[in-house]
Amino acid sequence: MKFFTTLAAALLILCGCEHRKADFTAIIPLPLSIDSLEGEPFVLEDNMVIGYAEGLEDNATLLAEYVKEMTGITLTTKAGEGDIRLTLNEEQGHNPDGYNLLVTSQGVTICGNSPAGNFYGCQTLRKALPVKDAGQEGAKYRVDIPATQITDEPAFAYRGAHLDCSRHFFPAEFVKRYIDILALHNINNFHWHLTDDQGWRIEIKSLPELAEKGSVRKKTVIRKQWGTYDNKPHTGYYTQEQAKDIVAYAAKRHINVIPEIDMPGHMVAALHVYPELGCTGGPYEVWPTWGVATDVLCAGNPGTMDLIRNVLKEIVEVFPSHYIHIGGDECPRDRWRECKTCQAFATKMGFKGEKREAQLQNYIMSEAERYLAGFGREIIGWDEILEGDVSPTSTIMSWRGSDGGIEAARAAHKVIMTPNDYCYFDHYQSPDQEENNDKEPFGNCCYVPLEKVYELTPCPAELNEEESKYILGPQCNVWTEYIHTPEHVEYMLLPRLAALSESGWTKVKDFTDFERRLASLTRIYDTYDYCYRPRNEEAQKKMVDRINAGYEVKE
Ligand code: ACM
Ligand code: ZN
Repeated sequence: MKFFTTLAAALLILCGCEHRKADFTAIIPLPLSIDSLEGEPFVLEDNMVIGYAEGLEDNATLLAEYVKEMTGITLTTKAGEGDIRLTLNEEQGHNPDGYNLLVTSQGVTICGNSPAGNFYGCQTLRKALPVKDAGQEGAKYRVDIPATQITDEPAFAYRGAHLDCSRHFFPAEFVKRYIDILALHNINNFHWHLTDDQGWRIEIKSLPELAEKGSVRKKTVIRKQWGTYDNKPHTGYYTQEQAKDIVAYAAKRHINVIPEIDMPGHMVAALHVYPELGCTGGPYEVWPTWGVATDVLCAGNPGTMDLIRNVLKEIVEVFPSHYIHIGGDECPRDRWRECKTCQAFATKMGFKGEKREAQLQNYIMSEAERYLAGFGREIIGWDEILEGDVSPTSTIMSWRGSDGGIEAARAAHKVIMTPNDYCYFDHYQSPDQEENNDKEPFGNCCYVPLEKVYELTPCPAELNEEESKYILGPQCNVWTEYIHTPEHVEYMLLPRLAALSESGWTKVKDFTDFERRLASLTRIYDTYDYCYRPRNEEAQKKMVDRINAGYEVKE
């Protein structure tokens, strides 16, 4: 019997007439409505055409690539009609990220409310396809795409993912791979953490030493064994050309890149280059350890605002994003209390009482905000900036739980929800958190499993309808103090990003059904050789071995 089954399979492959079925009900994030239609499926096969309307050529090119990567089937693209048609809804007033997807025996039409909406329709088609066999080159089967009508749009306009490239530098090629992963999950904002105490990672042409010297960390603390170091330099920064290339790469995938220049704390790498901008005058080393540094920019020194303006001037040239993140988190005020320059400046500005130093921070954030407003940009800041008199146009990123986000929405600020107990992906995915074990790669702390991420409700129940409008959407953060390799980044990201993606997209959630659909998504992860945390113990062990092997190569 086995012989005949194998023979039948071989014959099917030889005559190229094996059919496999697409499944729209198995994708993440789950579309708003999926209706089966009467009629024959559309049969997708080699040499069919993706026809695209004006403005959708990049979507067509990417869809052809995705179909090839997923199934081995080669499609061509051309403007106008095709077997798969990419079109735009001319009617105004719809959710721009929404789309309709119609499959009949005659073909597939994806009609987006905007090019981005069309792209999400392409992603839906891509994710519904059956993936090819390991090692398969070219088309070995056709795909039956069932006659279906899908209407879809996301619950939230902002769906973000962050990557810390300061604590550990990741090559531009990996940043692109990361962006590919975000696109697979319908994420539309990449928050790129580019500067911190432990490394300055973006070229500033008028201040070349910032990146040349500020990116070089002489040594790094070993895990959390404070005071012990690896004694190996850690270096790397992105040239502006590389950053622009990444911005363009992301834009093709309808992802906006939000750069973060964290200020006035988290600036020790810059102080290493410009020690005169610190309250003590230094010297300062690019910080080789983790935590919150006491040394911050001197708020009373006019050179501080000059530095900030010179940096931001170039940042807006490289990054077209409407939002620029200026940090504002974890800025101790100890130095400012003792610094004559800061105190004289606070007096001159009329800052008084116990909020005197808080007003110094507020001054820096407001000046940076005003400067960026001159370029038509708005700021995002971590929730600490609520402690000052932030302007109504600033957007708050709520990370110390959801309370900051609730307070901000009530004060009519736009809010991005990234509460650490749901959205910090440097936290463990397992309760197994011993150091140096081979069960789970090293993490920062805490336990944020997939189920927990899935529970995230970006819009807290405490907010009324009017206040809820200020919640732009959710974001996950991948801080990399304890994550040194691309595989480890991927493992921390996946599949938790799938849960976050559904929190940002799908209005009615169901974890059991999500888990069923995750099985299909992980087949896509395997197709691209993404490292992730499998649900199955044996597979998980193999993935951990792969990460550990990556560390050995690096060391
Ligand atoms: C943060 O995690 N310090 C924003
Ligand atoms: Zn000072």
